[in-house]
Amino acid sequence: MTGEITAQALVPEDFIAEKVGEIRATVGDGWAINALSGGVDSSVVTMLGHLALGERLRTIFVETGLMRAGEAEEVVGFFHDLGVKVEVVDAGEEFLAALAGITDPEAKREAVTQTFYSSVFGRLVRESGAKHLLQGTILTDIDETVAGIKRQHNVFEQLGIDPEEAFGYRILEPLLQLRKEGVRKLGKALGLPDGLFARIPFPGPGLAARVIGEVTPERVDTVRRATQVLERLLADVDAFQYLAVLHEDRVTGMSRGRRDFGQQIEVRCWDSVDARTASPTRLSFDLLEQLAREMVQEVPGVVSVTYNITTKPPSTIEAV
Ligand code: XMP
Repeated sequence: MTGEITAQALVPEDFIAEKVGEIRATVGDGWAINALSGGVDSSVVTMLGHLALGERLRTIFVETGLMRAGEAEEVVGFFHDLGVKVEVVDAGEEFLAALAGITDPEAKREAVTQTFYSSVFGRLVRESGAKHLLQGTILTDIDETVAGIKRQHNVFEQLGIDPEEAFGYRILEPLLQLRKEGVRKLGKALGLPDGLFARIPFPGPGLAARVIGEVTPERVDTVRRATQVLERLLADVDAFQYLAVLHEDRVTGMSRGRRDFGQQIEVRCWDSVDARTASPTRLSFDLLEQLAREMVQEVPGVVSVTYNITTKPPSTIEAV
C-alpha cells in the first residue's frame, strides 16, 4: 500500500474503481471470504467485495457470543436490503471457551484473535477452498498496534505475522490508507443506509473489550444489558462513541433494602473525529442521573455507576 489518503483528498468514485479492480485481480476466478462485523469499516469492505466478486464473495458474520443484543439480526437485515447475502456463523461457545480463565487485557485480545482467525476463519477457508479473507482494517488500527498502545485484533503483517503461514490464507485490506472519516465518506458513496452510519463503533473483540477481569457468560450478559440501557438513553446524543464497562472490583451497595457487595459499571461517552484523540462528552447531569437509575434497576447485581471524565490520551476509548 502507499501512504495515507485523507478524507478531504479522497475521491470516492476513483478509490472504489481502483479497489474493485485490485480485489478482482488478486482473487482471480476464485472465491473470497469476507468478515463482516456490521461496523462502518467492514460494511464498506463488504460493498467493495460485493461489487468486485458478486456471488464469489462469501460474507460471514461471526456470532462470537460477545456481540450486543440483536446485533446479528440487525446487520443481516441491513445487507439483505442491499442485496447482499450474509451467513451467520455461531461460534459463541468457542470464544467463551478460549477466554475462560484469562484476565490480562492483551491475552484476552490474543484469545479472541486466535479464535477468530485461526479456528473460525481457518475452518471456513479450508472448507470453502477460498484463499483470501477480506477485512476492514484502517490506518488507525495499524498506528495504535504499531505504537504498542493496544493490539487491534485484526492487525498482522505490521507485527511481522504472515497470515498465510499462520492461518493458511491471505488477508486483503482495501481500507488500509484511510481513517474513519474517509471510510464514512466512502460508505455514503457506496449507498450504505443512514442506519448503518448511525451505529456507533464497536470493537472487534466485542463485549470482551468491556469486561475487566475474566470474561464469563454471566459477566458478558451483565455488560450486554448495561450496553442496552446506555444505547437506548444516549441514542439522541451527538457523540462519537459510548460504552459501558464492567469492573472487577466490587463495592458495597444496597439492593432491595439489603446490603449487597455489588458490581460497578463505568460509562464512557466520547467526542472524537477519528478515535485518535477523544474527550468526554459533556452529558447533562440529569441524563447521567437517569442513566444511573435505569442501569441499577435493569441490570441485576449493579450497585454503582460512574462516568469517565478522562481524555484520550492518556485513556483509550475502550477499557481493555
Ligand atoms: P481505543 O480503545 O484503542 O479505540 O482508543 C479506538 C477505536 O477503535 C475501536 N477498537 C477496536 N476496533 N478492533 C477493532 O476493530 C479492536 O481490537 C479494537 N479495539 C478498539 C474502539 O471501539 C474505538 O472506536
